[in-house]
Amino acid sequence: MKFSNALCAAALMLPSLAGATGESAAGADPDNGQVIYDRMCAGCHGYKGDGGEGHRGGFSPHVPTLADKAYMASVPDDYLFLIIKKGGAYMGKMASMPAWEKRLSDEEIRDIVAHIRRF
Ligand code: HEC
Repeated sequence: MKFSNALCAAALMLPSLAGATGESAAGADPDNGQVIYDRMCAGCHGYKGDGGEGHRGGFSPHVPTLADKAYMASVPDDYLFLIIKKGGAYMGKMASMPAWEKRLSDEEIRDIVAHIRRF
């Protein structure tokens, strides 16, 4: 009886633990950004933002800019956020960078920005 009580208490504790870590993860979550990035962006930008590994070939362009540290340091998060949301043409860049506002939430875009800042 004692044993099953202990199990019960452990099971009850799990959801509250999950709640606590969820709350402490305030702001952008780069790891979530990475999951989305690898799926939706790496086909053109490469897993590391250098247009290399992860690139899916065919007619998608190779885009190395995200791995250019000097360039990345020169652009603000707001710029990255906007170009991802509105697409390349909106920011005076190549129109082959798609707009993602219909497929990604603002929060997801912020997660991605946090991730590409790590390249
Ligand atoms: C179909 C290919 C393609 C896909 C998919 C794609 N991009 Fe792009 N991206 C481009 C191109 C092309 C440019 C413009 C490069 C230029 O004009 O110098 C660009 C530019 C950018 C820039 C601005 C870099 C700069 O030069 O200022 C960011 C940031 C960016 N992409 C992020 C993303 C993110 C995040 C995703 C996924 C949600 C994504 N891209 C998906 C092709 C793509």
